[in-house]
Amino acid sequence: MRCSATAPPSPVWGDEREAVSRALQWAAAHTTVATDPKTTARSAEDLQAQVGETITESGIGAAAAMALFDEVLLPATRASEDPMNLAYIPAAPTRAAVAFDTVVSAANVFGGIWENGAGAIFAENQVLRWIADLLGWPAEAAGVFVSGGTMGNLSALATARDHALRERGARPAGGWALACASTAHSSVASSARLLDMDVVSVPVDDRGHLTGAALEELLAADPRICAVVASGGTTNAGIVDDIASVVEVAHRHGAWVHVDGAYGGAALAAPSARERFAGIEQADSFIVDPHKWLFAPYDCCALLYRDPRPAAAAHSQHAAYLDAIDRGESNPSDLAAHLSRRTRGLPLWYSLATHGTAAYTAAVERCLASARQVAAAIESSEHLELLLEPELSVVVFRRPGWTPAAYRRWSKRLATEGTLLCVPTALGGEIALRLAFVNPSTDPDAVIEVLTATMQEADGS
Ligand SMILES: Cc1ncc(COP(=O)(O)O)c(C=O)c1O
Repeated sequence: MRCSATAPPSPVWGDEREAVSRALQWAAAHTTVATDPKTTARSAEDLQAQVGETITESGIGAAAAMALFDEVLLPATRASEDPMNLAYIPAAPTRAAVAFDTVVSAANVFGGIWENGAGAIFAENQVLRWIADLLGWPAEAAGVFVSGGTMGNLSALATARDHALRERGARPAGGWALACASTAHSSVASSARLLDMDVVSVPVDDRGHLTGAALEELLAADPRICAVVASGGTTNAGIVDDIASVVEVAHRHGAWVHVDGAYGGAALAAPSARERFAGIEQADSFIVDPHKWLFAPYDCCALLYRDPRPAAAAHSQHAAYLDAIDRGESNPSDLAAHLSRRTRGLPLWYSLATHGTAAYTAAVERCLASARQVAAAIESSEHLELLLEPELSVVVFRRPGWTPAAYRRWSKRLATEGTLLCVPTALGGEIALRLAFVNPSTDPDAVIEVLTATMQEADGS
């Protein structure tokens, strides 16, 4: 063990054993407790009225703070991992991963540089290697865990822009641009804004895919485009772009290809979906959020580069006090926009090491099968209309005849009752409903039962 003796009381904080034991006991108990699907947000005014001031000169004490958290604050949050929460992209971490997150906190390793975090970084790198193997990437591929897909996309696109500058020697007149479909995640446009890049929107094919054919003319006409972003599972509809043709065309025009698999990248582990990602072997960078569909707790995004050298060139930080860093080692801080970092890949490492990759494949396949089963039931229902055959685990459908108000009323009623969390979206300009299956504990029969029982009324009541 790195530490073997009990820490003496601190001259400033005193004896913190009561505070520690209250927090750890709560964490131990909570990790295996069933979720309450009725928990929900409350207004800040409402919370202020009940909680009052907690930040005071002499502190309120561990017992009071813990009680407030347990009884008031946490119930005012949504249970992301409830099996009937199918809204947005929910979460479904394994109990092993959640428990190990507490271990990661207790170990408090600085994960920015090898010198400080070697053992922990080594384990994270084994997980990244597993993902690189799923991608079909070579031994030199490397990556880092960052906080989320937004930070992963930003860091990858900063690398792409920096690489283009080094390759081409100068910024083009009019600045840099990236190309993506309008279905790309909102974080791509937000990254472009932060990087001062224009976004060139590429039309999708009739089934919603970004293709090389649609890119060809745009890339030939616009030398500002230094990066193309393909989705490895769009958030709204779970569509995987035609990565093979995108890579072929983009590389022929000297553009970097980044694949955003924040949600859908987990399906690389599923033999029944792997073919949809054909061509990803040649992409330049990739992200997947284990906090979405790889059964890890927040916050965790795996960012990988087929060749990490451009990332190190773009992101390495240099300062007098950092000169001692051994740059020959694998320093996670060199591969993204950060320096200090929590070794947030470790909960996934522990869970993968515990359960094995076959269990992960089975869990992802189970979500895919649930989505297909619910989609088939919707297709055969008299009241509902399936809008797309699911490519991954998102099911988008309509209740013909309902007004937008009816959709909202139905969604709110079911959320309040704790029956099902499903919020309206839009597809092709029309209001629709969307179910995202990322939780292997979700029972598709229970979802079908709810849809059958609650969607017949003509007004959503
Ligand atoms: C495809 C895709 N990319 C990026 C993101 C952003 O990820 P995060 O919320 O972890 O920043 C999301 C979030 O839903 C996503 O679905």
